[in-house]
Amino acid sequence: MRHFSVLHHLAGQLNPLCRSLDLDPAVPLDLLAGLLGPHGTRSLAEPPAWPSDVADDHSPIEFSVAFNDTEAPALRILAEVPGLTPGLEANTEAAYAFLAANAARFGLATGRLDAIRDVFFTPDPTGNFTLWCSLVFRHGRDPEFKVYFNPEVAGVDRAPELVEEALGRLGLHDAYRTMLARSIRPGELGRRDRLSFFAVDLHDGPQARVKLYVSHHEADAADVARAATVVPGVDPAEIAEFCLEAGGKGVFDRRPLVGSYTLAGGATRPVGYSLYVPIRDYVDDDLQAHERVTAVVARHGFSTDLLHRCVAAVSRRPLGAGVGLIAHVSLRLGPPRPGVTVYLSAEAYEVTPPRSVWLPAA
Ligand code: TRP
Repeated sequence: MRHFSVLHHLAGQLNPLCRSLDLDPAVPLDLLAGLLGPHGTRSLAEPPAWPSDVADDHSPIEFSVAFNDTEAPALRILAEVPGLTPGLEANTEAAYAFLAANAARFGLATGRLDAIRDVFFTPDPTGNFTLWCSLVFRHGRDPEFKVYFNPEVAGVDRAPELVEEALGRLGLHDAYRTMLARSIRPGELGRRDRLSFFAVDLHDGPQARVKLYVSHHEADAADVARAATVVPGVDPAEIAEFCLEAGGKGVFDRRPLVGSYTLAGGATRPVGYSLYVPIRDYVDDDLQAHERVTAVVARHGFSTDLLHRCVAAVSRRPLGAGVGLIAHVSLRLGPPRPGVTVYLSAEAYEVTPPRSVWLPAA
């Protein structure tokens, strides 16, 4: 395996994922090669070109499968585009170059992005990323593109100011105020509650959205249920139940629970809420993660058979032999597309060992 290139490894996962989801792999494979650029041929025997935080082992991409209530499941890729000589600035430029190279082909609408990109630009970025891209593949349609900014790029303290400015420019200011009041625990903004991602769709359809993500450190199901109450039509009990089923009881004291608010023009409150549970921190191994996610997928009326095929497409080891292949699981409530998403790590570089291994007594 080790003599493979990183592109070889990832394409070997993407191809069967596409087949399982009844998607033509040609465009996804082409875009995967574009995301990796010249680094695609790099051998897996070498360390990654850039230690991306997209995935625990610094793989440059993460897969996810979105089960949707109202349409066929979609395949997604989250990526950090590495610059030629990788670094935060070079990667930002490489991401914009990747988008520009695909803008005409896929009719990307960059109006919202252009309106705010300077807000999240700083000559001396802090944190572990500046710009990530995601690609969504749906049967019979062109891929959709999305970008994620890091609100903490100019420092944790400046995140609220940057987010407020960006939302103001997009005419989404009102929704932001109501949202903050409910989702941030008293005195915890910039401490245990962090504005972690700001996402913009690069299309102009009626479903184009802006999403704001809040990471809740040391939070529990009740905290995220409360955070969800600001969204009309969202049942906070459903969020709490999902949290328990996917992550278990008590305080989430390892990686944080993450909530996201979907903001749409003209609405004074967010229109949708999603909760992301970093399940890998709250299970012993992927066998246990797989059991929990199977239960979640089944309870929401989706195909566990499809889930199993997608896991098999990505996995290169027995599920009990590691933890983190199933990285997150999320519940999406409200428009544009309610459903459940399962995040699958590429594990191109490393497998995290399972937590409970049986060792013979000395
Ligand atoms: N790997 C990072 C994390 O786990 C970023 C990330 C990738 C992420 N996919 C995600 C965060 C899905 C939340 C949800 O935090």
